[in-house]
Amino acid sequence: MKNNKKKKETMIKKTIDFENKVILAPMVRIGSFPMRYLSLKYGADYVCTCEIVDKRIIKSTRIVNKKLGTIDYMNKDRIEFRTTDYEKGKVILQLGTCDPDLALQAAKHVEQDVAAIDVNCGCPKRFSVIGGMGAALLANPDKIIAILTNLVNNLSIPVTCKIRLLNTYEETIDLVKRIEATGVAAITVHCRDAVKIPVIANGDIFCYDDMEKIKKISNINSFMIARAAQSNPSIFRRDGLLPKLQIVKEYSKLCAKYDMPYQNAKYALLCIWQDHQDNIGYSLVKSKSIHDICKGVGEEEYYYQVLKERNEKEIELSEETRAKQEETYADQCPYIPRAPYIPKNLKHALDESDDKGGKVDNENKKDEKIVVKGDEGKENVHVEVNGNNENNNEVTKEKKSIIDESKIITEPNSQESEKNKHKKIKLS
Ligand SMILES: Cc1cc2nc3c(=O)[nH]c(=O)nc-3n(C[C@H](O)[C@H](O)[C@H](O)COP(=O)(O)O)c2cc1C
Repeated sequence: MKNNKKKKETMIKKTIDFENKVILAPMVRIGSFPMRYLSLKYGADYVCTCEIVDKRIIKSTRIVNKKLGTIDYMNKDRIEFRTTDYEKGKVILQLGTCDPDLALQAAKHVEQDVAAIDVNCGCPKRFSVIGGMGAALLANPDKIIAILTNLVNNLSIPVTCKIRLLNTYEETIDLVKRIEATGVAAITVHCRDAVKIPVIANGDIFCYDDMEKIKKISNINSFMIARAAQSNPSIFRRDGLLPKLQIVKEYSKLCAKYDMPYQNAKYALLCIWQDHQDNIGYSLVKSKSIHDICKGVGEEEYYYQVLKERNEKEIELSEETRAKQEETYADQCPYIPRAPYIPKNLKHALDESDDKGGKVDNENKKDEKIVVKGDEGKENVHVEVNGNNENNNEVTKEKKSIIDESKIITEPNSQESEKNKHKKIKLS
């Protein structure tokens, strides 16, 4: 408890502005990265992920995916949440939860990569209410308050809450006031006049005119859009909708670029395209890979370009990794990698000449040297005696006996580092 209090005092709280904003609503199977990307591109101020259940986030591993330029939260091969810099400061992660501690653990895990955490207290779908989450929480306002309080007190990012209207006006007002008192940054429901925090209107908004109408009859100036974005994310454009063909092409290209699972892409694309009978619709229905999808919407060439770029990136990254590993080994073991390789038979000869004391013919050995080329292994070694190159295996005992050890030098081979060039090795 004491520690928590200290943390709270020193934590720098980030804020985001929820006034006059248009937001992509959380949508299961729809709110993945390509949909969020297009919504932002076409004018959304913030974008919500689909609901992600706390336990899934907690057990996921955060991976910086250099190949794709993404940050991934993975459970084995399953992507729970994939994000990029494109949505930094704009992506709101919607949490499915019914437990204050699990909610906090999950939110802490993703805190550095999201702009805010939204708690789902409004989704009536089976997958959500099944564990007492989503709209099921509305039956237990104390639980909602406990979850929100724990998040607000311990997170550095804003917390929001999405609810539905309760049976009576009074009940709804009572709940939103209690929610406001927890310190949340905004609430998604139609109760603007009752609270001071921004209220985001959601439901049946299909164009900017709809937003203007709501503005006129209430004090609400922020909006959240789900189904209209699901069928065409260019709904966020102030200049009107773009043709669906352009949108499905863009969506497919994003799926290729960010290596999205084809099943999810197919579902979202069919929600946009809707006509399942024409050529594009039919090829989407039959698609079994991102390649099929891109081919179906006339973007096969782009797909191959992406694959080529990804392979190049992979090679670049593996070379970087190898270089790093080599550096690490050199640091751990500073002498061995740079030491010259002395073949056994040669070393033996040196020992022998030493043993003989004064028996080495010093006059006849003037022009003789052993050149040990490189330090990597036997293949690199060759021996020069009296200016003749000789394979080390062919050095005769006689010749060995006149080796002058003071002339043993290393000659760097082409792969040796600059540092080692012209380095003389003393064997004594
Ligand atoms: C496909 C789909 C999935 C949805 N998934 C979620 C969800 O995960 N969490 C949530 O709070 N609401 C969810 N909703 C509800 C929407 O966020 C929104 O509240 C509702 O659709 C009303 O907005 P609209 O009239 O703009 O569609 C979903 C709606 C749709 C259409």
